[in-house]
Amino acid sequence: MSALILEARDLELRFGGVQAANGASLKVHANERIAIIGPNGAGKTTFINLCTGYLKPQAGWVFFAGSDITALSPRAITRLGVGRSFQIPQLFLENTVIENLLLALSAREGTWSPFLRLDRHPKTEEMWALLDIVGLKEAGRRIVRELPEGMRKLIDIAVALALEPKLIFMDEPTSGVSSHEKFQVMDTLARALDARATTAIFVEHDMDVVARYASRVAVWAGGRIAHEGTPDEILNHPEVRETVIGVGV
Ligand SMILES: Nc1ncnc2c1ncn2[C@@H]1O[C@H](COP(=O)(O)OP(=O)(O)O)[C@@H](O)[C@H]1O
Ligand SMILES: [Mg+2]
Repeated sequence: MSALILEARDLELRFGGVQAANGASLKVHANERIAIIGPNGAGKTTFINLCTGYLKPQAGWVFFAGSDITALSPRAITRLGVGRSFQIPQLFLENTVIENLLLALSAREGTWSPFLRLDRHPKTEEMWALLDIVGLKEAGRRIVRELPEGMRKLIDIAVALALEPKLIFMDEPTSGVSSHEKFQVMDTLARALDARATTAIFVEHDMDVVARYASRVAVWAGGRIAHEGTPDEILNHPEVRETVIGVGV
């Protein structure tokens, strides 16, 4: 198997009476496509927040490319090459799609200022090329507020990809995308990830999407992994079928 790039080890986080991370551990190797499945409240989003610095664990560690990143800020983790997209897209709604990409880049490069001229940004061409890869070129000059939810999710992912992560966490990339468009969106994403050799971890509720796009599946329950294996092993696992898939997550 290829190199280990991220390891979460024994993460613990309690919110009041809820143990949202309860010994959560995961090893991620370069170029894997890991799907995280599991019921609502299982701690999937909490795990992503812990790995990307948005939440700090009460115990445990996160290592990226061999370094301990547990205590780093989200911004520092982003700079190291760990990207993420959100369950609810985090975008500047009154800006255009291309402006959102340029704003994200400028924020990371520390070149943002109130006087920043987005229309003269040196990376403009590059960002149009990225929009083309993710199938958003036509929408590039539109105001985000006017666009449908599914498209906003793709834009949020494009914003994360603009920062050229080595690893990206995607929280429910196809939620809000109509069922007949899911495969199209995932094909586009898979191509963009392949083109940049980006490793990906994504939370997904649609088992057809999991079967088609994941190289490995981790089943979350009670703040940790309950089962993991290939899509074939997991989707045919009797207990997983009964507790996760059967209940129509
Ligand atoms: N900021 C928070 N404050 C309090 N409880 C939270 C917070 N975030 C998540 N939780 C709780 O932690 C548990 C796991 O939530 P979450 O990670 O969002 O699950 P999932 O993404 O698998 O649906 C849930 O019981 C949720 O209500
Ligand atoms: Mg969630």
